[in-house]
Amino acid sequence: MKKIPALILILFISTLLKAQEHQMSKSYVLPTDTLVQKKLHQWQDLKFGLFMHWGPYSEWGVVESWSLCPEDAGFTQRKGPYGANYFEYKKAYENLLTTFNPTKFNPEKWVKAAKNAGMKYVVFTTKHHDGFSMFDTKQTDYKITSSRDPFSSNPRSNVTKEIFNAFSKENFMIGAYFSKPDWHSEYYWWSYFPPMGRNVNYDPAKYPDRWQKFKDFTYNQIGELMTDYGKVDILWLDGGWVRPKSTFDSTSPDYKKIYDQNIDMANIAAMARKKQPGLIIVDRTVPGEFENYTTPEQKVPTEPLDHPWESCITMGNSWSYVPGDQYKSTNQIVSLLVKIVSRGGNLLMNIGPGPDGDWDPIAYSRLEQIGAWIKVNGEGIYGSDAVAPYSEGNIFYTKSKNSNTIYAFSLSDNDKVKLSGTLTLHLKGISKIKKVSLLGVERKIKFSTAADALTITVPANLQENNNLTQTATFKIQY
Ligand code: GLC
Repeated sequence: MKKIPALILILFISTLLKAQEHQMSKSYVLPTDTLVQKKLHQWQDLKFGLFMHWGPYSEWGVVESWSLCPEDAGFTQRKGPYGANYFEYKKAYENLLTTFNPTKFNPEKWVKAAKNAGMKYVVFTTKHHDGFSMFDTKQTDYKITSSRDPFSSNPRSNVTKEIFNAFSKENFMIGAYFSKPDWHSEYYWWSYFPPMGRNVNYDPAKYPDRWQKFKDFTYNQIGELMTDYGKVDILWLDGGWVRPKSTFDSTSPDYKKIYDQNIDMANIAAMARKKQPGLIIVDRTVPGEFENYTTPEQKVPTEPLDHPWESCITMGNSWSYVPGDQYKSTNQIVSLLVKIVSRGGNLLMNIGPGPDGDWDPIAYSRLEQIGAWIKVNGEGIYGSDAVAPYSEGNIFYTKSKNSNTIYAFSLSDNDKVKLSGTLTLHLKGISKIKKVSLLGVERKIKFSTAADALTITVPANLQENNNLTQTATFKIQY
C-alpha cells in the first residue's frame, strides 16, 4: 500500500475545509422537505442550547478523543499517564471504560439549571471520534452499558436515553451529536495498518467489503439512535472529513490522493427521517442538502449569514471536562448570546461533565446568573430576527417577529450596568416611535427622534443606580 505523506494530506484537507467554510453561504441548500423547514424555523427561535461532550476521557481530564489521533498538533498531545508510547496509550485510553463510573449522574439536575438559564435545546455526544458509545448500542461492546464498565449495573447506565428523556420532559429540542469517524472500529481504523491520521487508514476503493461494513455499522448505530431514544430533532454529525471524494475540488493536484469516504448520507437521511419526521440533519462542513444549518465553531460570524446557523462555543476552554478549566464570565456569555442573536444565529454553549457525572459548580453558578438576566431580557431574545443596522458600537439590535418592536441591547463591560445620559441610535426606516422603555426598570424613558436618529435620555439617578446586570435593554415600540 502506498503511503500518503500524512501531514501534506492533513494540511491540504484543512485548507479545503477552510475554503469551503467561506463559500458556505453560497452553497447552502434549503431542505425541500416541508417538515424539515418547519422544524428549522422552530429551532431558529430557540436561540440558546446546551452542548455536552462527555465520555471516559473525562477520567483523565484530557481532550476528547483527539489524543488518539496521530497528527502532531497541540490539541492531539498525549497528556495522560501512558503518553510515551502510542500503542500503550491507546490501550490504556480504551481501558478507561473499566473504571468509568459516573455515579453522580443526575440529568434532572442539568435540565433544571439549563431551563432556568433560558436554554431550549440540548445536543449530547452520543459517540465521539474515539468510538465510545454513550448509548446501549448493539453494534459494539465499546459502550457505557458494556458489562466491563462498572456503570453498566446502574439502572441509568444508558445515559443518552436518560438525558434525552429528562430534557424532552421539559420540552427541549433533542440533538444527537454523532461522530462519523470511529477510531475504535476495525472498519475505520483497521488494525492491520497503523492509524495514519484522522482519516480511514485503508483505501475504501481497494477494500470495498470492509468499507461496506463500516457503512452498515454507521447506518445501524444511527438507526438505533433514531428508534429507541424517543423524539430526536437534530442529528448533529461531526467529522466532516468523512465525505464523498466528489465534494472536494477535483482540479487540485492532491485530489487523487484523497480517499473516497462516502457513507451514503442520502440513505442514512431517508432512514432517519422515516423514523423521525422533520429531523434536522447537520452534516457539518459538508455543504449540500444534509447540512441544514452551519456551525461556526468557537467563533461568532462578524455579520448575519443568509441561512440558519449556530455558533458552538465552550463555557470553559475545553469541550471535555478538564479539572480547573477557566470558565467564561457571565458577562462574556451574555455578550456572546446577544451578538449571536443580533446576527440571526443560535448559541450552543458547551459544558463538559466530569468523571463523577456532574458539572463543575462554576457552570451552575454561571447558568444561575444567566437565568437572572434572561428573566428580564429574554423577550428581546426569543422569537426575534436580525435587523439592520445589527449593531452600533456596543449596542446590538433584535426585532420581534410578532410585534413592531425593536430591542437595543447596550452591552456592559461588567456585571453591573452604568449608562450615559443620552444614547443615540440609528434605526433604519422606522418613523413613528410610540414608546421607549428599559427592560427591568419601571421608570418612564424620554426620547426624541430626528431623521433616522433616536435619542434616548436616561434619568440621572438611573445611570448608576439601576439594578441592571450585563446589559441595558431598550424596548422600542413603533
Ligand atoms: C472541535 C473539536 C471536537 C468537538 C467539536 C465540537 O472540532 O475538535 O472534538 O467535538 O469541536 O464542535
